[in-house]
Amino acid sequence: MSSRSEETVLTALREVVGKSHVLTEPDMVAGYVHDWTGRWTGHCAAVVRPGSVAEVQDVVTICREAGVAVVPQGGNTGLVGGSVPHHGEVVLSLRRLDRLEPIDPASRSVTVGAGMTIGSLQEHARAAGLAYGVDLASRDSATVGGTIATNAGGTHVVSNGDTGRQVMGLEVVMADGTRLSRLDRMPKEGLGPDPLHLMIGSEGSLGVITSARLRLLPREARDLMVVLVAVQTLSEGLGFLGPEVRAIEFFDETCLEAVIEHRGLPRPLPVESPFYVLIESGDTPNIPDVADAVVDPRLWVYRESITETISALGLPVKLDVAVPLDRVDEFSTAVKELDLEGQVYLYGHLAEGNFHVNVVGNRDPEAVVDRVLGLVVGLGGVIASEHGVGVAKADWWRRTTESSLLAFHRRVKEALDPHRIMNPGVFWGD
Ligand code: FAD
Ligand code: MLT
Ligand code: ZN
Repeated sequence: MSSRSEETVLTALREVVGKSHVLTEPDMVAGYVHDWTGRWTGHCAAVVRPGSVAEVQDVVTICREAGVAVVPQGGNTGLVGGSVPHHGEVVLSLRRLDRLEPIDPASRSVTVGAGMTIGSLQEHARAAGLAYGVDLASRDSATVGGTIATNAGGTHVVSNGDTGRQVMGLEVVMADGTRLSRLDRMPKEGLGPDPLHLMIGSEGSLGVITSARLRLLPREARDLMVVLVAVQTLSEGLGFLGPEVRAIEFFDETCLEAVIEHRGLPRPLPVESPFYVLIESGDTPNIPDVADAVVDPRLWVYRESITETISALGLPVKLDVAVPLDRVDEFSTAVKELDLEGQVYLYGHLAEGNFHVNVVGNRDPEAVVDRVLGLVVGLGGVIASEHGVGVAKADWWRRTTESSLLAFHRRVKEALDPHRIMNPGVFWGD
């Protein structure tokens, strides 16, 4: 964009959202152009902070007419580089859209603005004796819009499903600036394919989510039991799955040692083991009497501190993948045998065969990505499990997605965003 047309665009944006909500100064935009891990740093024409859906529509329209691409951003906690403007795009921050409507007890749902954090949504539900089904350690920053756009998983997918499963209705601003509202969608509708489903997991590449109606769950009637068990293999941990299990997570000894050191916590069990499985359950899980296990609700801290601990130790290469459940042992052994030239940390969401493979101290991130993703594909797994594709895996996504599916995605993108102004870097690497 020439500096003249950039000035014209900025003037138009200021007229829409007000001067104080168009940020251009380097110190003001800094928090929006780096990702949470520090791996990606971009630059932007401006950060625009609309305060209403109508303003989002006007911002998108101005950008489309000027041929300026837009990167929607929520809490900027994404881990695949998708929330960062890599090529000078306008950052469209949704954080001011944080309206929280009263809970509708009849449909057991709530309508919230896209910028609402998951933590505040959980709090709102709790106050009404209900619960929101998605939980993740980034809850105090991650937003409703961002979690829908990435179809975030988190710790309770095994019992409640992923974010997409909580969505009962959406309001979206499409790439041409039109507002599409499916907020009042009936629980059972037969009016043809619902555009709502295309937005879940679209990572800002098809439109801007401005509001959502979300399903709430009854709150647990009693306290849940939290158990940490030392296991030799992950398949042993899968044996603890039962109908009352709400969460089943794992981490390896390397993660545990790092968290103990970083957080100054005591060792939770008097043994060292290749893996530990953390179970949250409505009944006593089916754990053999001889197992090394400890029960305490505070044990969650060992699992939830891993991400922050690893980032404190260095700049990690972070890979989020999944393999079929009958291959978790094969994967966990093989990944440690790869030549990754760094400290490898393994943790994840066990019931989904999800692995977070983090490597710190490696000087060739591309080699790590290629080796780990190559192993995953060879075992029949998926290269992106819950964090999305973003820019981090765009090449691998295009290379490994079946051609008929890739053609479908290409047609959807061309139909809904023909000028490629919506987060063009994710998936397509434009
Ligand atoms: P952002 O990072 O701002 O954006 C993410 C993507 O969504 C980008 O592509 C962006 O363009 C798009 N987007 C954002 N808002 C909108 C919108 N309103 N409309 C359209 N597109 C939009 N993820 C998990 O799945 N499970 C976990 O357990 C988990 N734990 C985490 C723990 C920590 C400590 C951290 C830092 C991250 C964790 N994450 C986890 C990753 C991250 O929190 C999720 O991906 C989350 O969904 C991102 O939400 P956000 O609001 O920060 O989105
Ligand atoms: C987690 O499960 O802890 C998150 O997905 C964050 C991460 O991968 O580090
Ligand atoms: Zn995770």
